[in-house]
Amino acid sequence: MTRRFAVFASGSGTNLQALIDAVDAGRIRGAMGLVLTNRPGSGAQTRAERHAIPLAVIDHTPFASRSAFDAALAEAVEAHDIDLIVLAGFMRILTPTFVQRYAGRIVNIHPSLLPAFKGKDAIGDALSAGVSETGVTVHFVNEDVDSGAIIAQQPIAIRSDDTRETLLERVHAVEHRLLPEVVDRLLQALS
Ligand code: GRF
Repeated sequence: MTRRFAVFASGSGTNLQALIDAVDAGRIRGAMGLVLTNRPGSGAQTRAERHAIPLAVIDHTPFASRSAFDAALAEAVEAHDIDLIVLAGFMRILTPTFVQRYAGRIVNIHPSLLPAFKGKDAIGDALSAGVSETGVTVHFVNEDVDSGAIIAQQPIAIRSDDTRETLLERVHAVEHRLLPEVVDRLLQALS
């Protein structure tokens, strides 16, 4: 039985692209059943359209509450027969109701070695802290931001001359390899 995963993304969607490429190459044994973005016109939306992947654009701004927005997300997920949800740069905090509904079936990729540097600017925070190492973490999503059980991590050395751009490039290279590996592994475990 082919397992199906959804990708939630708000931004440029380079991780989404890595997942699309991995499905195409057979490195992810499963199907991308939905791309969901909360930002109309995002890079993620363009990538989904270019690859003819089922797309839901659900702008969060007109919703009166987080729970109403999350109910719309759940409706889209239910309509597409999804086994696993992958947050790849999805910049909205999900409600406990949503997280509990899909417990053990939502993962997030975060650009630090969690529990270090939780939050929105993990790369900037690592650079300002002057640490010599950061990395990438893929973890299950629970009720607290960037706090769920860790599935995979890879460290990345920070060089003394690193800028946000040079470090981001190496973070992305690691993310684009690690996330498809984890998604394939999780989909296989569901089979
Ligand atoms: C990634 O660095 C990911 O770790 C973080 O958001 C970024 C998304 O980048 N959660 P992209 O949109 O996949 O290029």
